[in-house]
Amino acid sequence: MTIQTEAHKKLNRREFLSWLWGASLVGLFGQAAAAMVQFFKPRQKPGGFGGEVVAGDLEEFEPGTVSYVREGRFFISRLEDGGVLALWQRCTHLGCTVPWREDEGQFHCPCHSSFFNRQGEVTGGPAPRPLDLFPVSLKDGNLVVDTNHPIERQAFEASQVFFPGEVS
Ligand code: FES
Repeated sequence: MTIQTEAHKKLNRREFLSWLWGASLVGLFGQAAAAMVQFFKPRQKPGGFGGEVVAGDLEEFEPGTVSYVREGRFFISRLEDGGVLALWQRCTHLGCTVPWREDEGQFHCPCHSSFFNRQGEVTGGPAPRPLDLFPVSLKDGNLVVDTNHPIERQAFEASQVFFPGEVS
């Protein structure tokens, strides 16, 4: 048989209330932290910029063409040899959107006149480095571009080109 004194009961009640108070605080801070994470997480539309974007059927991109994919904010540059580059539209000078100028056969930044060729290499102007790349893969015949992982580069190298024929 256990005999509990009045002081012992009070102590237990105090401990219990203290524990309850602590648990409530932990729960409250946990919810606040989750809300903060949700708030600051980049908003990513499914299939849009910030994630994997389906650029389209590989056959739609003829060799020697440059095509804009608005949802992904990149260009698919299909080189003459069939290789593929996904070039981010963002100028490496101060971040302006760089359009492809079919009449000039090059990318031409309207802000301070940087020029880039179809590999994204700088051919003129103040841009310090080539246009950034996004990784490309082929899924069910479609080119899929991962816009969550831009690749900075200092120069164009053949190893940066994705060749769909090499996919097993
Ligand atoms: S932002 Fe493109 S040249 Fe300056």
